[in-house]
Amino acid sequence: MQRCDSDALVLFGATGDLCYRKIYPALYHLVRRRLLNIPIIGVARAGWTREQLAKRVQDSMAQFVSNPDGETVERFVSLLDYVDGDYRERSTFDQLRKVLGNAERPLHYLAIPPSVFSVVIEHLGGTMPRGARVVIEKPFGRDLASARELNRILLKRFPESNIFRIDHYLGKEAVQGLLYFRFANSFLEPVFNRNYVASIQITMAEKMGMNGRGKFYEEAGAIRDVLQNHILQILAFLTLEPPVSSGGEALRDEKVKVLKSIRPVKPENVVRGQFRGYRREDGGYPGGHGARGPAGGRGKYWPPVRRIDQAYGDRNLVCACPPPAAFE
Ligand SMILES: NC(=O)c1ccc[n+]([C@@H]2O[C@H](COP(=O)([O-])OP(=O)(O)OC[C@H]3O[C@@H](n4cnc5c(N)ncnc54)[C@H](OP(=O)(O)O)[C@@H]3O)[C@@H](O)[C@H]2O)c1
Repeated sequence: MQRCDSDALVLFGATGDLCYRKIYPALYHLVRRRLLNIPIIGVARAGWTREQLAKRVQDSMAQFVSNPDGETVERFVSLLDYVDGDYRERSTFDQLRKVLGNAERPLHYLAIPPSVFSVVIEHLGGTMPRGARVVIEKPFGRDLASARELNRILLKRFPESNIFRIDHYLGKEAVQGLLYFRFANSFLEPVFNRNYVASIQITMAEKMGMNGRGKFYEEAGAIRDVLQNHILQILAFLTLEPPVSSGGEALRDEKVKVLKSIRPVKPENVVRGQFRGYRREDGGYPGGHGARGPAGGRGKYWPPVRRIDQAYGDRNLVCACPPPAAFE
């Protein structure tokens, strides 16, 4: 297959948390391995300059990369540019197009709140070259209807092959290692099945607390944040049949088979809780520090799935439980 690498990387949400904690450090490692040498354009509405973006990237390196190498940071910073403007304004995209110059296959990474996905996609569709690509982070929609609507808007503007719906969690080494652990170990593979495994428990334990993300959790909730993406992906990795090839589509097909064979979760099999101290969290929580949230607030609830019977048979339960001590 012919490679058509992207010739520019556009980061929407360049001032945000995802870029700061995850994307800039990941880009640093690509630059260090000389795999990334294209213009990187941050877009946000903070009124920043290119120098302020460079400073943000340098701070991110200092905080999230162990022993960053000065020469690599310098090369990374030399690739940066910045466009300031609101995503709802067409002028922001006209300005971006100017900065992109002759780029034919710019990759647009949407590290932005889901509420502005569609407006950004529509503007990109109206201003970008035909080879433009788009990356969307989870959560993909708020529910089935909004996920379908988002898909519709994307497909109206971009061909399927230029759309990347990603879940960064799948890039974690421990998650990637699950398939090797299961299928590349000849002593393990024959016994990792319903005849020898009584149950699987998936615990997603985070060291991090709210970190000022109260507003996000009030709007999305922890279930949408991690359950139907990270945890179901891990569940699929743990239970799928060996894919027919190592290609992405073969893996996707096997995941779909597992997910289709899960029985619908009944309310009596669901236990929900909230992080201890959630309502006293500072930073972003409506009402501020010390305020009590609404009784029905979604909060940092942890996975509701206490028990998923699935095609492995009734004896084999797959559980997604929080550490009990985290509840109140
Ligand atoms: N943070 C994570 O670890 C993480 C993990 C997985 C997925 N995600 C997903 O990634 C996305 C971004 O998350 P985040 O935590 O980085 O959010 P965030 O910290 O709130 O950052 C959002 C960014 O979007 C910008 N923005 C929002 N509305 C805008 C508008 N109308 N015009 C111009 N800029 C606008 C913000 O600029 P201002 O600062 O100027 O408002 C900011 O740069 C979300 O969809 C989230 O669900 C995040």
